[in-house]
Order: sequence, then C-alpha cells, then structure tokens
Amino acid sequence: MPPFYITTPIYYVNDRPHIGHCYTTLVADVAARFQRLIRGSSPAPVTGGSQAPQGEAGEGVFLLTGTDEHADKVVVSAREHGVSPQEWADRNAAEFKRAFEFMGVWNDDFIRTTEPRHKDKVPGYIRRLMKHGDVYKGEYTGWYDPGQEEYVTETVAKENEFKSPISGKPLVKRTEPCYFFKLSKYQAALHKHIEDHPEFLQPDSRRSEILARVRPPAVLNDIPISRPVTDDPATQWGVRMPDDPAHRVYVWIDALFNYYTAVDTPERKHLWPPAVHLMGKDIIWFHAVIWPCMLMALDVPLPRTIYAHGWWISEGKKMSKSLGNFIDLEQLQAYAARYGLDALRWYLATQGPLASADADFAHAKFVEVYNADLANGIGNCASRVANMIEKYCSGQMPEHSGRGWHTTRVQTPSGVAAVAENWPETVKAHLLNTAREIDQLLIPNALHTGRTFVSLVDGYINIHEPFKKAKRMAEDPAIRIELFDILHNCAEALRITSLLLYPAMPFKMAELWRRWNCSPLRDPADPNSGFVAPLEKLAEWGGPHSLKPGTPIVKGDALFMRADPAEPPPKSS
Ligand code: MSP
Repeated sequence: MPPFYITTPIYYVNDRPHIGHCYTTLVADVAARFQRLIRGSSPAPVTGGSQAPQGEAGEGVFLLTGTDEHADKVVVSAREHGVSPQEWADRNAAEFKRAFEFMGVWNDDFIRTTEPRHKDKVPGYIRRLMKHGDVYKGEYTGWYDPGQEEYVTETVAKENEFKSPISGKPLVKRTEPCYFFKLSKYQAALHKHIEDHPEFLQPDSRRSEILARVRPPAVLNDIPISRPVTDDPATQWGVRMPDDPAHRVYVWIDALFNYYTAVDTPERKHLWPPAVHLMGKDIIWFHAVIWPCMLMALDVPLPRTIYAHGWWISEGKKMSKSLGNFIDLEQLQAYAARYGLDALRWYLATQGPLASADADFAHAKFVEVYNADLANGIGNCASRVANMIEKYCSGQMPEHSGRGWHTTRVQTPSGVAAVAENWPETVKAHLLNTAREIDQLLIPNALHTGRTFVSLVDGYINIHEPFKKAKRMAEDPAIRIELFDILHNCAEALRITSLLLYPAMPFKMAELWRRWNCSPLRDPADPNSGFVAPLEKLAEWGGPHSLKPGTPIVKGDALFMRADPAEPPPKSS
C-alpha cells in the first residue's frame, strides 16, 4: 500500500485557534486514523522531526500540521504585546499545539516555519527555481490586501469594490520591486493535469471553479514571490531570498514549502507525494494553482489530491465576534466538557462542511445529532446488548452455533432502508463500501456506515426480541441456542461497528473495547497505540479478533448520557 501523507494548512500564529482550524485538523485526523486502521498501523512518533514508522504493516501514515509564522502581522502583534516576533510566534504556536491536543488529534509532526529545518531549506528550493530559469526580477503593481497579506487580481478587486473579499477592509494599490515566478510557463501543463486527473482537485465543484480560471482563454500571470526588505522592522521578518538580502520570500511561498520541507529528509522522503492536502475553500488557489506549478518547476511529483472544504457558519449566520456567534476554542471546550470530546468530534466530522456547501454549527442540531447518533444510537445499543449478555449469559459471550444470519430491515437515519440477510456478508459489503468512501475522503459517509450498522443491530433486536426468548430458554434448549446466536450476532456486529466509529470517537471506542475485552489496539489503554492487525482482519466475522465464547462483557455506565434539548448552549468560561 502506498504511504498516506496528509497535511493541513499551517495556521497563522497571530490568530487564536477557532473552529475553522480545529475542524480541518480534526478531519485530517479522522482520515489518518481510518488509514492507520485499514493498514493496521504501528504507532508513529509524535512531533519534532523524528522518523516515520518503517518496515511494519502500517508504514507511512503521516499527518502533518503546524504554524505559519513569517507574516508581517506577527511583527505588529508582537510589538503590541511588547515581545519579540519570535516570542510571539512561540507563544501562539504553543496554543495551536494545545488546541490540537485538546481535540484528540494524533499528528505525526507539527512544523513551524521559523524552525531551522524549514527556513534553512526554503532558499535552496528558490535557488533551484532560479537555476531552472523560472524566477526573474521585476516590478509589481497591484491591489494588496494587508489583512491577508496577498495581492488580489484586478477583477477580484473590482468585484469587491476595492475592499478585501475576506475582511471588507480597503485594498491598497502597491508598486514594489520583486522576484517573479513564471507561473504562465506552467499553465498548459497544470491545465492538462487537472483535466486528466479528476481526483487531483476535490470536491468537483471546486475543481470546476479552478478549471474555469486555468482553462484558456483564461490566462495565468506570473506571480511575485518576494517582498522588499526596508527599514520597517515588519519587512525584516521572514526568509531572505538567496543571495539578495534586500528581498524576503513572500510569506505564502515560504508557507507552501512546509509540506515539502517536513519530509525532505532521508527517513521521510518515501512519504512524498502527499495523498491529500486538506484546506478550506478560501485558500485553494495557492494550493491548486501556485503550489503545483512550483512543484513542476522543481521537477517534484504533484500531490494526489487537493481537497478544499467549505466553511462553518454559526446559528445560521457567518461567524463574527461582534454578533457573538463566533465558535472559538473555548466554546468548543465548553461543548466537550458537557457532552464529551468524542461527541464534539462526531458532530464536527459528520455534520461539517467537507463537501462544498457551508455547514451550520447550531446548538439544537448538535443536541439532536448527539441524542440520535450517540445517546440513543451506539451508546444505547451497546448497553442494550451488554445488558442482555449480563442477564442471560452471566456477563460472558455465549456459545453459539455459528449461524450468522437472520433477516432484519431498518430505516437508517438517512431514510434509506438497510437490510441484513446475512451478517457476515453484510459486514463485508459495508466494509468494502467504507474503504471506497475513505479513499475518496468521504469521511461523513464512512462514519454514517458505522451509524447504519448500529441501526441494523437495533432493528435486529426489535425483530427477534431476545428478551422474550430469554423467558423460555430454561424449558426449551432450541430457544436457548437461538437466543445465544442472536446475542452473539449483536455483539459481534457492534464490535465491528465500533471499528468504523473509532476514527471519529477513538476515546469512547477504546473504552467500549476495554469493557468488552476485545481491544484491537496494541495498548488497550492508549487509543494512539496503533492496531494489532489491518481492518480487514480485525473486522472478519468470527475471525481471529472476534468475540470468543467466555469473553467477559461489562455493561458499565452509559457511554453517552441523553442530552436535554431544552438546556441552553454551554458557555465558555
Ligand atoms: N497560513 C495560511 C495557510 C498557509 S498553508 C500553506 C492561512 N492560515 S489561517 O490561520 O488563516 O487558517 C486558514 C484555514 O482555516 C483555512 O483552511 C480556512 O479555510 C480555515 N478557516 C477559517 N475560518 C473558517 C471557517 N469559518 N470554517 C472552516 N474553516 C475556516 O490561511
């Protein structure tokens, strides 16, 4: 299996972490956990330039996140706070690290653009571009968005009445000497690559948007990749152009290289090209046009997929601090404190804007999804099954006849009827489907497959009414066999379901596995310890990892307590 290297954007250190940052990094985490599970991945070292795991079945799943620190606004904010830019960057990078730790993200590395391992390599790449004849010196005049630190095209400036499309603040007309990258030279090659590789740009709506801007008669102009260094200290922060200290590398160009510098070492080289660059829709142009053209100029293979998700809005409106509907880290922490971190992860991962449309973070919706999918879904179903095993089988997996089929038919939450005629076959079919969905980064769909399984087990219990059979099991041995078969099938189906739910809810599923004595983790106490076998083996019905007769099943407390829809949203402290 090829390596799976997934990246998130690197975040500006002058902002505090919020739902947008946490969401992208969480989705990357869920995708990486699915991949580790599929491969039976061994644990990867966490943060700090260490090696990717090698030589094991799970070789090569690697999640990179980090911070973008050479922006001019870092200098401005640092000055306002009376500290040096580096101190300011250190402080805020630590906040992002803590935020992702809080979100339960298992990243293999956290790159910061002020680290020598990054900033010392960037001039070398630029020198290569120069040697290749793709960089020249000139003068640039254009509409600059100071808040975003980027130029916008004349068309975009006009469309937005010469205001920033992001912040709404006025754009500034600027002329400055700079180095240009010959983007125009790569237009035809990029266009062909996008046309030939539908998976390169996703979702499809974003692909069409970019194609319309890359396909002739559209023209790609050369782009400035440097900014002049002046007496203003703000202009002295950043990576210098090779052999020309009067210019520094434009922060966006510096930042894009992070994806490459992080793995440009002998131990990690095999990870390139990335399987997925994940990001929000606002920064797709840099990733889908500028970055691939630079890679072509460097003669480096292109990433497999560039995936740009939509945005979160909140309670039906664009998030804004003044409206008071901004979902910042503290708000997310308040949700996790009341409903559990895994519930927050589940909501974000299943209801988020992974497709092109924006998604709403609404309290009523959160509670509805929490109750339907978790409290009344997996939580209730697991305690129902464990309860019956406790009561009718002395808390141990019963002997069973191996009969894994009984018809059941349920309406799934998506309204589609699902049928299980034969559990082993149903499991296999769903797993195949899930693998396809994960491959296409259809994370919510893959998680819904797990959710559908829970409904199937619930439907199965409702149809076969094991609690009624239990009343007659003492006098009728045939009924007893039937009852044990049913309970076994429920437990085994839920065990397999829990594997599919793990990427979104690693902590609750690890808890369930401990109670049911069936942990597939190398260290049952550590949800980040990797898996003892690949998913195909773990999920084999009746296979080596199945629930064997005699295995103790402990019911324990509810995995998810029911939530009261009338309770007001949690407040951040
Ligand atoms: N530093 C650049 C990225 C460089 S990558 C080589 C940057 N940083 S950022 O801190 O502004 O983070 C931007 C990321 O957060 C983008 O992916 C953006 O889409 C995402 N989000 C910001 N607000 C968001 C929402 N309301 N909803 C979802 N994601 C949003 O840009």
